[in-house]
Amino acid sequence: MSPMIHDGLADLKIDLKHYHVTNTTGFMLDRPLTELPTYFKPWEDIASSVASLIERRELRNAVLKMPLLDHNKLTGHRQLRLAHLQLAMIASGYVWQDGDVNVPKVLPKSVAVPLYYISQHLGLHPILSHVDLALANWTLVDPEGPIDFDNLACIYHLPGGAESDWFCIVTFMAEFNFAKCLEPMVNILEVLDNYQKLPVGDVTQRDRIVDRLVQQLDGLLAGVLDMQYSLTRMHDKLAGDTFYKVIRPFFGGWGGEGGPLPNGLVYEGVSENPLKYFGDTAAQSSTLQLLDALLCVEHDQEKRDTILLMRMYMPTAHKRLIEDIENRKHKLRHLVTSSHVDSLTEAYNKCLSAVVKFRTGHLQLVSKYVLMPARKSTQDSVENLDLKGTGGTSLMPFLKGLKQDTLDATAVTNKRDTFFGIKFGVLVAVVASVAVGLVVRLVANKK
Ligand code: HEM
Repeated sequence: MSPMIHDGLADLKIDLKHYHVTNTTGFMLDRPLTELPTYFKPWEDIASSVASLIERRELRNAVLKMPLLDHNKLTGHRQLRLAHLQLAMIASGYVWQDGDVNVPKVLPKSVAVPLYYISQHLGLHPILSHVDLALANWTLVDPEGPIDFDNLACIYHLPGGAESDWFCIVTFMAEFNFAKCLEPMVNILEVLDNYQKLPVGDVTQRDRIVDRLVQQLDGLLAGVLDMQYSLTRMHDKLAGDTFYKVIRPFFGGWGGEGGPLPNGLVYEGVSENPLKYFGDTAAQSSTLQLLDALLCVEHDQEKRDTILLMRMYMPTAHKRLIEDIENRKHKLRHLVTSSHVDSLTEAYNKCLSAVVKFRTGHLQLVSKYVLMPARKSTQDSVENLDLKGTGGTSLMPFLKGLKQDTLDATAVTNKRDTFFGIKFGVLVAVVASVAVGLVVRLVANKK
């Protein structure tokens, strides 16, 4: 009998449908609705004019006149997601209309009650999150046209006009490009499981499997590189100051130390005690967390704690997908490092390098859109700025640490066969020729 390993989870084929994910849209909500039934028009009216109402400083008054609607009249996942997006936009506008001055401590019940209970139903938090602004806020200008930078549009608009639309469109494209990684990912996991089931001596099958793995890693690489390219497009149409002064304040959470709502925000009609939530950040995206899980990139406990906090803002099914990949018994990195096949190690390392490239490009965005404008406004040097990220960690050390951890996962080509980076075979040949030379000289001297 050939040795077979059966361990439940490891043998299960990943079915993307089960995780509310597709090969074409990835984590993006598939065909989001753009309208709710007319009963919900008061929400639609305010959500669709958030930017202009904020500009005129009239959003708060509009919200105070908004009726309390019955969220139980909503049906189906897409209606709930659109309602969450609308109400979360309205809540952010209500709180941050005047920036960080005159910040209200109570969210009126016409927003608070439906937002809170819809969130509970969806397993989300009652605040604007990546799940809204990036995953559910997209539509196509030409519904028959392609998903690309020119044909994507936002359903609802942040303050900041075309520049803030561009911020969202680039984020949509990063998520859509990630979708290309999913099919290779499923295949990689299947190959890992099949590899374990092979009889130890079946070299031909093992070679075939390794070839297939290399092919799938190349597919994964293409997806990550396209994601990384998307990020570079941010610079095309978004200025540093617009992000820092107009868009970023809208993403504020409530409950952060040093912020205008240190104790949180009271959701009228829900709880008399203030509630605390982090604000919107693409750190809540499932993309990089899934890539780390698949490629076995490990982070220390401090960074992982922040990552897990961000994970709490993902849809439950997406969270489950990351956890299921993290918990699989057969790890890609183990196969790569134990198989000693150069082509496989190289294909794996290329994927890691692409993630490093993404994180490097992302650090450049953070520098241009957060650090530089922050320095301008405080007259401080970049080095002295200890900006805190959404999770409360120091921003740059956190992000640079994640990049370093990705680099650290790089597998050494034929590790077992190298000695200080010199191929073992070459080393043996050199040592042997030196030894032969010595023997020849010794023999010659004796004569
Ligand atoms: C103007 C553009 C952007 C800025 C200024 C920016 C800023 C930040 C900041 C400050 C963080 C640290 C966590 C926090 O405090 O929120 C972060 C994390 C993160 N952002 Fe962005 N971001 C931008 C665009 C994007 C885009 C388009 C994506 C694509 C999905 C993205 C994905 C991530 C991820 C995955 C993390 C977690 C850290 C990691 O895994 O390396 N960001 N971002």
